[in-house]
Amino acid sequence: MDLLESVRQRRSVRSFDGRPIEKSTLEKILKDAANAPSAINMQPWEIHLLSNDERERLSRKLLKSFKERQITCGPGATGKIPELFIDRARIAAEGMTPLVEETGVDFKTFVNTGSLKFYGAPAVMLVFIDKSFPSERMTDIGIFLGYFVLIAHAYGIGTCPVGLVTSYEDEIKDALNIPESKKLVISVAMGYADPNSPINRFKSERAGLNESVRWIGF
Ligand SMILES: Cc1cc2nc3c(=O)[nH]c(=O)nc-3n(C[C@H](O)[C@H](O)[C@H](O)COP(=O)(O)O)c2cc1C
Repeated sequence: MDLLESVRQRRSVRSFDGRPIEKSTLEKILKDAANAPSAINMQPWEIHLLSNDERERLSRKLLKSFKERQITCGPGATGKIPELFIDRARIAAEGMTPLVEETGVDFKTFVNTGSLKFYGAPAVMLVFIDKSFPSERMTDIGIFLGYFVLIAHAYGIGTCPVGLVTSYEDEIKDALNIPESKKLVISVAMGYADPNSPINRFKSERAGLNESVRWIGF
């Protein structure tokens, strides 16, 4: 698939058709995604891949913690986020809500418990980084994630990055026996998109360049 086609078509997939992903397909995607650039080629991403059964086992633990701790999807802000950005999140949520409601579930439940169930994906990737790296190395993980979701799309695999799980990092490390010296950065739910699910019809909008780009000297 053409790169630009993949870039323009990709969207987060939040409902899967139940077909498993072959390990060999995951290997191909990971090998291609590892072509992502990283500072002095350190490739700081550390990846754990969970099969459907392991994903279910982990999700059960996460949902139990969710009942106790009630940490939900949100921007995780340390200060007041400018309205411009809040508006973009609101527009996305408003666009998704009617599609979610077609399935008889309310939006918050869909996004929060859905995220912790990785939307029932047949495979899940958890990406860690060694805590010795400075916060700037998150850029490398972000680039890797960008490559990964586009390459997966090119292989016919739908993805949804799931950041909510980072609030449940301790539970995940405990369940998967991952050392304290590693930091969970992001997870990705992946599988074959269910073509009949209303939520997979959702395509989020993007702000115009005038909102995010300042041209200097052009
Ligand atoms: C770092 C990151 C964390 C995200 N966390 C979640 C999440 O916890 N749950 C979820 O449903 N989607 C999550 N998403 C998906 C975003 O909501 C989605 O990328 C955004 O709305 C744009 O839509 P698109 O991916 O369809 O273009 C996350 C995306 C990123 C990049």
